[in-house]
Amino acid sequence: MSAALLHAKGVSISFGGLKALHDVHLELRPNEVVGVIGPNGAGKTTLFNAICGLVKPDSGKFEFEGKERSWPRTDELIDLGISRTLQGVGLFPELTVLENVMVGAQKLAKTGLISAALGTNKRDEEILRDKAMRALDRVYAGSLANRRADTLAYPDTKRVSIARALVSEPKILMLDEPAGGLGPQDIEWMNNLIRNLTATMSILIVEHHMDVVMSVCDRLYVLNFGEVIASGAAETVRRDPAVIAAYLGTGVA
Ligand SMILES: Nc1ncnc2c1ncn2[C@@H]1O[C@H](COP(=O)(O)OP(=O)(O)O)[C@@H](O)[C@H]1O
Ligand SMILES: [Mg+2]
Repeated sequence: MSAALLHAKGVSISFGGLKALHDVHLELRPNEVVGVIGPNGAGKTTLFNAICGLVKPDSGKFEFEGKERSWPRTDELIDLGISRTLQGVGLFPELTVLENVMVGAQKLAKTGLISAALGTNKRDEEILRDKAMRALDRVYAGSLANRRADTLAYPDTKRVSIARALVSEPKILMLDEPAGGLGPQDIEWMNNLIRNLTATMSILIVEHHMDVVMSVCDRLYVLNFGEVIASGAAETVRRDPAVIAAYLGTGVA
């Protein structure tokens, strides 16, 4: 078992009187796909947001590549090698697919990650274009590059959003409900795409429906009412009585 790339330890977060997360642990190892699942309101997005710097934990520790450090701020994510897609953040309809992905890359240029490579023999825009094109190829969407975003089928928009998150060449990709709104065939396709990305990164998926992440995840954490009620290999977790009870809405002892 390899050492954790990212380790969140004992995370607790309250909103007013409501405990959204209580003493939650989560580990993500190199080249692993980990799913965080649980019923609505379980605390999945809150955990995702804590790792992305959008919510500050009341307590808990954060380790990155084996070293304890402060919780990342949103503007530190790219330097750490963490990239994410956000639920409900759409593409610019009137731009091409390639331009949409380049907009993602342009934000990077401002952070200095790309500018190091600029000013040599290529124009800035060409470098951005190359990076964007490579990201599109990784999600098998290279052939869509010149299509206007508003002409894409819904499953293709999801692929393009992932390409946008790949331009920074992250070590960790965080996906909020990547299969949301997809039919069974597209889910299988998306899962294959995600598995192929693990050659160069670890992936953390937040998902409401257990079945859609079952086959893609190496390990799952199940949240219910802000606590991890089960974790481990997908098949083991699926048979756990506490998990079954939580999903049936009968409550967990
Ligand atoms: N900003 C917030 N202010 C107050 N309550 C919140 C806030 N964000 C989330 N919550 C509450 O915290 C709990 C966990 O929410 P969330 O993390 O969104 O769950 P999930 O993503 O699993 O559906 C819910 O009860 C939700 O209403
Ligand atoms: Mg959520």
